[in-house]
Amino acid sequence: MIIAIDGPAAAGKGTLAERIARHYSLPYLDTGLLYRAIGREMAERGLDPDDAAAAGAVAAALDPARLADPELRGHAAGELASRVAVHPPVRAALLDFQRRFAARPGGAVLDGRDIGTAIVPEADVKIYVTASPEVRARRRTDELARKGRQVEFPRILAEIRERDKRDSGRAVAPLRQAPDAALLDTTDKDIDTAFRAAVDIIEKARAEREKRASL
Ligand code: DC
Repeated sequence: MIIAIDGPAAAGKGTLAERIARHYSLPYLDTGLLYRAIGREMAERGLDPDDAAAAGAVAAALDPARLADPELRGHAAGELASRVAVHPPVRAALLDFQRRFAARPGGAVLDGRDIGTAIVPEADVKIYVTASPEVRARRRTDELARKGRQVEFPRILAEIRERDKRDSGRAVAPLRQAPDAALLDTTDKDIDTAFRAAVDIIEKARAEREKRASL
């Protein structure tokens, strides 16, 4: 079973995808880490993240071992990721790796922006996870505060809006809800409620698939 989870920044996709993967004993790929690793490597090497050709070359040579770097989870890496992710050569270079991951025997869970629309349009289940920009900014601010970082809510909200605009407005594989994706709005849901709603969506899709197979 291939489960595709997409949605904007800080909607809770990662936490949800990880829990779903554990629940169904499936491997999990956080595809945002790929773009984060490219952005970070470019910054380390003094390359311009807006240079499409340079970003494409870094993407083509990306070492998957870099995905374990804890620095990638940070806010700065997220911003860089969103910038390098607009370049078609970057997206093209990452396509194969993601598709091979999704094609693992037994299936996989992948989360990102274009999983259900571009990477695995044939996924068995597609969930589009979202929440209002204000709620996402509040969660991100609280998360950073727990890590001891003093950040201003209005700044985080402005950055989230900017990131939404860039991720949805780019020409190649923009952030979109796939027509056949179930919408999961977590604005008024805590993680346990959101997880139960996701499992309901998955079980319903699974029952429908089994019904079709038995016809
Ligand atoms: O999910 P995240 O916050 O780690 O993603 C960081 C950035 O990477 C995001 O703003 C856009 C880009 N991204 C993408 O374009 N496509 C994906 N499948 C995953 C992430």
